[in-house]
Amino acid sequence: MIEEKKWDSDFFNLKIGEVNLSDGEDYSNFTDYDLLYVVSDEDFDLKLDGFKNSFSEQKVKFHKNLSEIFQTNENVFSHSEIEYNIQNIYQLAFESGKHSRFLLDKNFGTEKFKELYRLWIDNSISKTFADDVLLYKNNEEVVGLLTYKITDDKATVGLIAVSNEQQGKGIGGILLKHLETVLYQKKITSLIIPTQFENKQACNFYHKQGYSICDNTFIKHYWKINDTI
Ligand SMILES: CC(C)(COP(=O)(O)OP(=O)(O)OC[C@H]1O[C@@H](n2cnc3c(N)ncnc32)[C@H](O)[C@@H]1OP(=O)(O)O)[C@@H](O)C(=O)NCCC(=O)NCCS
Repeated sequence: MIEEKKWDSDFFNLKIGEVNLSDGEDYSNFTDYDLLYVVSDEDFDLKLDGFKNSFSEQKVKFHKNLSEIFQTNENVFSHSEIEYNIQNIYQLAFESGKHSRFLLDKNFGTEKFKELYRLWIDNSISKTFADDVLLYKNNEEVVGLLTYKITDDKATVGLIAVSNEQQGKGIGGILLKHLETVLYQKKITSLIIPTQFENKQACNFYHKQGYSICDNTFIKHYWKINDTI
């Protein structure tokens, strides 16, 4: 079964659908789609008549069972507690998305990527996409960002980034420990963080923070030939 991606279709103004490779679909039924996301839990080599594979990604999810921890930090605030410049927050969101398929697949265009990540921030601040937006403030400047959402007994990180000049100085670790403390106090003991396997910086960071990979998905973009940008 193809799943029509309504939100993505509206946002990109394209007809977009997602198919799981293991469903063994007859792809000739999908020629009215502009873009197909084909997903599988194993790597694959698929040729589709009338479509061009422009981009491939290995998405990984990191997981940790949280144990008792008390490591809040005085530089970490909820967005609702402090004043900030929204442009600064958008910049951190772009940094967070630097390995995103919506940036690296050039068919979408950089402006659309930025619009998507600005919207992600706006919807996180309004609590549609997130329960909170945590900010790390250093000398009056926000240099770190972490958004998360709780669903049932689990939490998932949406966006996480530290400004380029401040990376590797421990700020990401402080933000994550702060979140783990907040979650543990709410009796949430399972935290998931999605990223890309190619994002070695982030994968090294999560491993060092005690997370391990719990899920692996291969995602490929197939754009309809002659009907793309
Ligand atoms: C991933 C990120 C949030 C980590 O925050 P940070 O403040 O840089 O990380 P910390 O200083 O707390 O931790 C450092 C560890 O992260 C990893 N790391 C940080 N920068 C790295 C780099 N440039 N290359 C490789 N590993 C790096 C290393 O494991 C490092 O450990 P080490 O210092 O012992 O070598 C931050 O580097 C970042 O914003 N990266 C760009 C955006 C991004 O990829 N976000 C994740 C989206 S899923």
